[in-house]
Parts: sequence; structure tokens; C-alpha cells
Amino acid sequence: MPEPQPTTPGQITDTVLSSFDGCSDERLRELMKALVRHAHAFVREVELTPDEWERVIGILTRTGEITDERRQEWILWSDSLGLSMLVDALEHTLPAGATESTVLGPFYAPDAPLREYGANLAEESGGVPALVHGHVRDIRGTPVAGAELDVWQNGADRLYAVQRPEGPKDHLRGRFRSRDDGSYAFVAVRPTPYPIPDDGPVGEMLDATGRHPWRPAHIHMIVRADGYRTLTTHVFDAASEYLDSDAVFAVKPTLVREFVARAGDDPDKPAGVDGEWVSVQNEIVLAPA
Ligand code: BEZ
Ligand code: FE
Repeated sequence: MPEPQPTTPGQITDTVLSSFDGCSDERLRELMKALVRHAHAFVREVELTPDEWERVIGILTRTGEITDERRQEWILWSDSLGLSMLVDALEHTLPAGATESTVLGPFYAPDAPLREYGANLAEESGGVPALVHGHVRDIRGTPVAGAELDVWQNGADRLYAVQRPEGPKDHLRGRFRSRDDGSYAFVAVRPTPYPIPDDGPVGEMLDATGRHPWRPAHIHMIVRADGYRTLTTHVFDAASEYLDSDAVFAVKPTLVREFVARAGDDPDKPAGVDGEWVSVQNEIVLAPA
């Protein structure tokens, strides 16, 4: 009769680790063994009880149940536990001067409409118009022509277009191309702080641990250009609340910009803008691929 597998705590860990010895994919073997080592060490360190483990399973089950094509609770866990930023930080060791990256977040949708230089992202009224302008350059300062800036942001109601299926699908989203001198411009609205979705398991965790769900005001951008590393980043409003306590740990000081109040009779006022408006200069430096 074959020997039963040993069952003391240390033996359980060793037996599970060696169950991956035959995995022919070296990286997968490394990942699975490290996962088991760290997960078992966690259970040992906190002396996890069967009741607590059952609650963990319940949380994971509800995370799966609430996730669909509009709601991504798994990404929210990754973001709210700082894992998204950690993975990004380890991947992106950038050359000096290159614009830093930050989280993608769950509200990006591909295929935003291509818009003209200087065009307005807003397809509905609301909020203070904000002219966002700057250049895309490489680390030597050479303009990058034809770079694609894929932009999305929330509105004055705090929501992104993907959160409002009843609203215009391309409200506050668009793609722009840098001109020959690397310049780009578009009209956004001044972003507002907003809470990450907190009516699910991540919200329960934030509440139970005394954390708040708020993110500081920001505009999202993905910048793509041939020969350069794709940059996923934000423009943060320097006047926003929560810059020092972002729920997803995504603020980098180099990404914070002043949104400057502009006069109604300012000659740079974009066409179609009436009343109060602001502008923000945001220079972008791409790292080579
Ligand atoms: C966002 O900025 O869109 C976002 C990022 C992480 C979690 C939730 C929202
Ligand atoms: Fe956002």
C-alpha cells in the first residue's frame, strides 16, 4: 500500500511544494511554489482560523459574482492593496526625465473616437472647461510627432462614461495625435475627486479597516508612439483633496500639475467655451521601447 502523505504543518507545505516539481514551465513552477510558500507562511503567521478562512472564501466568491464587463472588483482589490502600483513600479524602471506611469484603473474602454487637435472631450455640459496642452518629446527633447494620446476622465458628477450606460458613450473620452512639433491640446473638464466603487467586497474592507475610498482629481492618459514604451499615466490636479491619501496609492509627485484659472477675455480661450475656464500644461517625455 502507498504511504499516506504526511500532515504536520511543515510537512503539508513541503508536500505541496514538491507537487510542482514536475511542472515543465520553469516560470510557472517558480510562481506556484512562491505562492504556496507565502500563502502558507501567512496562514502560519496569523494562525488563521477555519471561520476566518471561510470568510475569505465568501469574500472571493462575492468578488467573482459582482465582476462583469462594467465592474472589475479583482482590479479594485489589486489597486486598493497597492499591488497594481507595486507591479508597475517593478516593471517600469525609467530613464531619467521620462514621464512616470501610474495605474490604469477599471474605467478604461478602448476605441475612443479620434478627435482633432484642440477638440472638446465633453459631449454633455457640466463642469469647468480645462484646456490641457503640452508636447510629447523623447528623453533628449526631440518632439515625437504622431503620438496617440488616449484620454478619459470622470465628469462633474464623479462618473466615467462606462459607469453611465444611459449617457453618451464617448463623453469625456477621446484619442488625439501630437503634431509635427510634438504639440497636443484638448479641452477636458476640471476633474473632481471621486470614490472608487465601494458597494462591494473592497468597499466592505475599506469600511471595516477605517480607510476611505476617495481618489484625488485626475485625468487619465495612455500615450502610444512607435519606438517608445507605452505610457499609462494621470495628470493630477495640484489643488485636489486626497493627493496625500489616494485609495489606490497611485499619486506620484511628478504627475501633479497646476490648473490655472484663466480670464473670460483671454485670447487663448478655446472656441465654444463660455464663462469660467482653466488650463493646465502637461509636458510628456517618452522612454525608448
Ligand atoms: C481610476 O482612476 O479610474 C481608478 C483607479 C483604481 C481604482 C478605481 C478607479
Ligand atoms: Fe480615474
